[in-house]
Amino acid sequence: MPDAASIQPAKGKLGIMTVGMGAVCTTLIAGVEAIRKGLAKPIGSLTQMGTIRLGKRTDANSPLMRDFLPLAKLDDLVFTGWDIFGGNLYDAAKTAQVLDNETLEKIRSYLESIEPMPAAFDQNYVKRLTGTRIKSGKNKRDLADQIRKDIQAFKKTTDRQVVIWTGSTEIFLEPTAVHQSLAAFEKGMDNDDPGIAPSQLYAWAALTEGIPFINGAPNLTVDIPAMYELSRKMNAPICGRDFKTGQTLIKSVLAPAFKARMLGVAGWYSTNILGNRDGEVLDDPESFKTKEESKLGLLDLILQPDLYPDLYKNIFHKVRINYYPPRGDNKEGWDNIDIFGWLGYPMQLKVDFLCRDSILAAPLALDLCLFMDLAARTPSLKGLGIQEWLSFYFKAPDSAPGVYPEHDLFIQSMKMKNTLRHIMGEDLITHLGLDYYGG
Ligand SMILES: NC(=O)c1ccc[n+]([C@@H]2O[C@H](COP(=O)([O-])OP(=O)(O)OC[C@H]3O[C@@H](n4cnc5c(N)ncnc54)[C@H](O)[C@@H]3O)[C@@H](O)[C@H]2O)c1
Repeated sequence: MPDAASIQPAKGKLGIMTVGMGAVCTTLIAGVEAIRKGLAKPIGSLTQMGTIRLGKRTDANSPLMRDFLPLAKLDDLVFTGWDIFGGNLYDAAKTAQVLDNETLEKIRSYLESIEPMPAAFDQNYVKRLTGTRIKSGKNKRDLADQIRKDIQAFKKTTDRQVVIWTGSTEIFLEPTAVHQSLAAFEKGMDNDDPGIAPSQLYAWAALTEGIPFINGAPNLTVDIPAMYELSRKMNAPICGRDFKTGQTLIKSVLAPAFKARMLGVAGWYSTNILGNRDGEVLDDPESFKTKEESKLGLLDLILQPDLYPDLYKNIFHKVRINYYPPRGDNKEGWDNIDIFGWLGYPMQLKVDFLCRDSILAAPLALDLCLFMDLAARTPSLKGLGIQEWLSFYFKAPDSAPGVYPEHDLFIQSMKMKNTLRHIMGEDLITHLGLDYYGG
């Protein structure tokens, strides 16, 4: 049953709470304000610039997504958040050095009006940072309850809310017994279980308040049975982790192309230089391990070596990230790909992506906030827990237990658009096209 008529309208203010107000967050918020003021265009954002084809090709009907879907309007977005450092968002944006002074001066007073709330933080989980504005409490449950109170206060001034983690990458954690059920997790918060990271306290607080939670970092935050349970129980959507912005975006385009043409891959060496605070945090081996796992997963899942052992059985896949301060937020990502073709003859492909990390990430963060708010208002989506249709945005997409996650960008894009057509009661597009030829 399509939802179109039963989706709650996007009336009133959508409150966006960001955990971590650094480079990505300030680029998102400053960008939204610059766009609202008509100073710039929302380039990179599907919800703002993307269209969706409806009906047959001959219908020539491709409305803007934001006209077709009941999404929150940019004018209705209100921002707040938490960080371990003080200072307003103008200062934070200056520190991040992503946007130029000219842009920042035009929206200065708006950015100065937003100050982060004190954070739930523990240096054991982000070794390279020492916080200055941190909540204190008798145990992890107490900290999570304080976050809930912050959310409850924000509920009084906004109509709907989403929480998005744009905080630092935490150390690598494997799921343990404390993550296996909601009851075990809540007991673990009482007992200060070391398996519970600060990001999970925010996720628990958001989901308990019935609010969607988005994870822009590779942390094991909601990808555990306890959070799946809580998300479904509270009708509060969750999705994958780690924004798919630069190198992994390109990987998820190239790898499906090789597979579609049955070209073999012998090796894929990826390296990056990055000089922002994220790069500094990732210089710690334990945080890097979290990122590495998130970046490594996709090749096997796209190339399916079990199905194609002659082509992909022994790929040597390596990912490096090197902290190099002179580049700031302007990351350079190199890929060397050794492929082979007809009769096994070798070839090479080199990619050098001189990108801007937060410029790529901000529109993804915006789209995810708007789509997760839509999911929370859509009867057939909100009770699902994991929103697999948003895999498009993540390096590590989430999927139902027992189903492998889909990494191929084009399958992800088709799935997302068909999900949107489905909830709006439109025909799905299969690309069969026989009827154009009288078939
Ligand atoms: N920029 C990209 O292209 C991109 C892509 C994918 C993922 N990411 C991830 O997004 C995250 C943010 O990236 P960034 O470039 O904005 O980093 P950043 O270092 O500029 O900002 C992160 C902020 O989070 C804060 N923080 C850390 N722990 C916190 C906590 N417990 N509570 C509240 N605040 C906390 C830090 O003080 C910092 O200000 C990183 O994990 C990064 O790996 C970024």
